[in-house]
Amino acid sequence: MSDSLIWYGHATIGLETSGYHVLIDPFFQDNPATDVNAATINPQYILITHGHYDHIGDCVKIAKRSNALVISNFEIINWLEKQGLTNLHAQHLGGGHQYPFGYLKLTLALHGSGLPDGSYGGNPAGFLITTNTNKKIYIAGDTGLFGDMRLIGEEGIDLAVLPIGDNFTMGPEDALRAVKLIQPKHVIPIHYNTWEVIEQNASKWAKKVEAETDAKVHVIPPGGTFNL
Ligand code: NI
Ligand code: MN
Repeated sequence: MSDSLIWYGHATIGLETSGYHVLIDPFFQDNPATDVNAATINPQYILITHGHYDHIGDCVKIAKRSNALVISNFEIINWLEKQGLTNLHAQHLGGGHQYPFGYLKLTLALHGSGLPDGSYGGNPAGFLITTNTNKKIYIAGDTGLFGDMRLIGEEGIDLAVLPIGDNFTMGPEDALRAVKLIQPKHVIPIHYNTWEVIEQNASKWAKKVEAETDAKVHVIPPGGTFNL
């Protein structure tokens, strides 16, 4: 069975795998890149990379309604418990855990993680998901370039989802260097064009990446789907 990924816009991703809907970094309400109403999303799992509003914005609302299991770092899980959520699982950087949808490992990300009310959100993370059919999907989260992306690449990445927007995360040049370190088969750029400050030409970036690496880049519009 193939895995499919929907990019709702910005950093919000839905992953359909083994019959489960895994929602990553839910941000709908105030997200200029999507018209999707959070009330129409029914995930079994919600994964949060870090505490910033554009990644955790609609988490509590969707989790309360759907009773999805929310997975994030220990500090964010503690905060979510204070917001009234009970179906929670804490992990931390470098640690992996087997869920029905696959094996999830938290990876390093170079960023911040403060929560919307100013609470401490621990360290930001990326996600390395090994599906039940042994596909490896690396979702970098908000991050700058770091050399240990090479270690993540050593696992053999089928799909890497990377920020290219610059200003808050890697820009196009560093994201190209990231592809060279990770050596994924497929790449999807995210975290760009949501606001003027992160405007980028993804098609131009895709051409450059495909000219300089063996990766195939998939520039999908917000709301678009990629089948792995
Ligand atoms: Ni952020
Ligand atoms: Mn962000």
